[in-house]
Amino acid sequence: MSDRYIEFANSSVGHRLVSALGLPAPVHLERWMAGRTRPVDGALLIGGEGPLAKAAAGLLNRLTDSSYADQEGRFERPRWTAEHGPKLKAIVFDASDLVNTDQLIRLRDFFQPTLKALAPCPRVVVLGRPPETLADPFTASAQRSLEGFTRSLGREIRHGGGVQLLYVGEGAEDRLEGALRFFLSPKSVYISGQVVRLASNDGQVDDWTRPLAGRRALVTGASRGIGAAIAETLARDGAEVILLDVPQARESLDALAARLGGRSLCLDISTDEAPQDLVTALPEGIDIVVHNAGITRDKTLAKMSEAQWNAVIDVNLKAPQVLTQALLEHGTLRDGGRVVVVSSTSGIAGNFGQTNYAVSKAGLIGLVQAWELELAKRAITINAVAPGFIESHMTAAMPFTVREAGRRMNAMGQGGLPQDVAEAIAWLVQPTSGAVTGQVLRVCGQSLIGA
Ligand SMILES: NC(=O)c1ccc[n+]([C@@H]2O[C@H](COP(=O)([O-])OP(=O)(O)OC[C@H]3O[C@@H](n4cnc5c(N)ncnc54)[C@H](O)[C@@H]3O)[C@@H](O)[C@H]2O)c1
Repeated sequence: MSDRYIEFANSSVGHRLVSALGLPAPVHLERWMAGRTRPVDGALLIGGEGPLAKAAAGLLNRLTDSSYADQEGRFERPRWTAEHGPKLKAIVFDASDLVNTDQLIRLRDFFQPTLKALAPCPRVVVLGRPPETLADPFTASAQRSLEGFTRSLGREIRHGGGVQLLYVGEGAEDRLEGALRFFLSPKSVYISGQVVRLASNDGQVDDWTRPLAGRRALVTGASRGIGAAIAETLARDGAEVILLDVPQARESLDALAARLGGRSLCLDISTDEAPQDLVTALPEGIDIVVHNAGITRDKTLAKMSEAQWNAVIDVNLKAPQVLTQALLEHGTLRDGGRVVVVSSTSGIAGNFGQTNYAVSKAGLIGLVQAWELELAKRAITINAVAPGFIESHMTAAMPFTVREAGRRMNAMGQGGLPQDVAEAIAWLVQPTSGAVTGQVLRVCGQSLIGA
């Protein structure tokens, strides 16, 4: 469903009216286009004096054609100033050396001038050390405070910008490339205010235009919406894709699978036979499973039938549990594999009329956290992506007022696209993303709902 308000707010008459009335003024978000190679199309400023800035500086030539430093001669880059420098498309600031409260002022000093010189849809990444790994309480407190800074700057930055905090563990400095390629590029355009932890790991990507080459991926609910976008994106990144959906969706599933050079698999994941049927259908094994299939049966609890409750729990929560278990027990999901579940901001914050849905989506987050260590023994990662309001059949079916509220109540003032969720998943399943497990990544335009 198209969002006509964005067109209106960006027309000359609409822009004046929207400003005069103080209404949300969403900008056209810039998205990744096929054929592009550089993550950053414009000037990148790197700042900070810690060891992570040094690690990031070694990647600059691979990230952009145009990079600057905050001090003369640093990293052999020209110095950027608000007066003479170009508009900034991306900023990386290493805050990992801020070890006490007094030093936090450096965040203000570095970022304030940049805010007057941002290009459209700027991407900002602040680097820190995971507070829970730091022995000194004041240092841990300073590093934890970065979260408040990045989440607030995400709400202030405007221009369709996004701000993330990456906590880089000791020994994980060489994991920065995959994360920066994602968080500094338009692939993460609908993500802001997120905190991601990188741990040391040894997966490598040889060709960044096809980071999933040689991997076989199963995507459930892949005939339309977010699932179709996930399948397309994983195929774009080089994976061989197996698209699963209910038998009623066979026609569109087959057509998409054919277009992507993949395979289709018609299966209702909520049946008792589904785990065994799935294992039987995948004798050659898989490297990636994305549990995307999901349904809603919204009703307030007072009016919710047993059937409505059970349908949602069975598809959204029970199926990912028992299917993953079967894939693991039979060795269908190979060592070094990737599991991603599609949760929801409703699973984090709860939502009116969605007790069943929120139970299922919160349960998925619990599953990720509970399984993380066990799966790590086989170098398998498991993460959740939690979309906010994404334009799809599911949200098109919402009543008008609920849909409009969902679209506007976030820092971008608009809904995301299925592609935005797909890009996040494509990053999480890359070989270098072995550094990320047991985490929840929200793709919600920094929605006001939830943390
Ligand atoms: N659209 C949003 O705003 C939004 C927000 C948060 C989370 N999500 C989640 O994202 C996922 C995809 O949502 P969408 O908006 O693309 O929805 P959608 O309704 O367009 O697609 C869901 C797909 O899952 C398939 N499916 C449903 N039951 C199945 C079953 N028993 N077996 C196999 N396949 C089944 C459907 O046939 C459909 O193709 C869901 O898990 C949803 O809960 C969506």
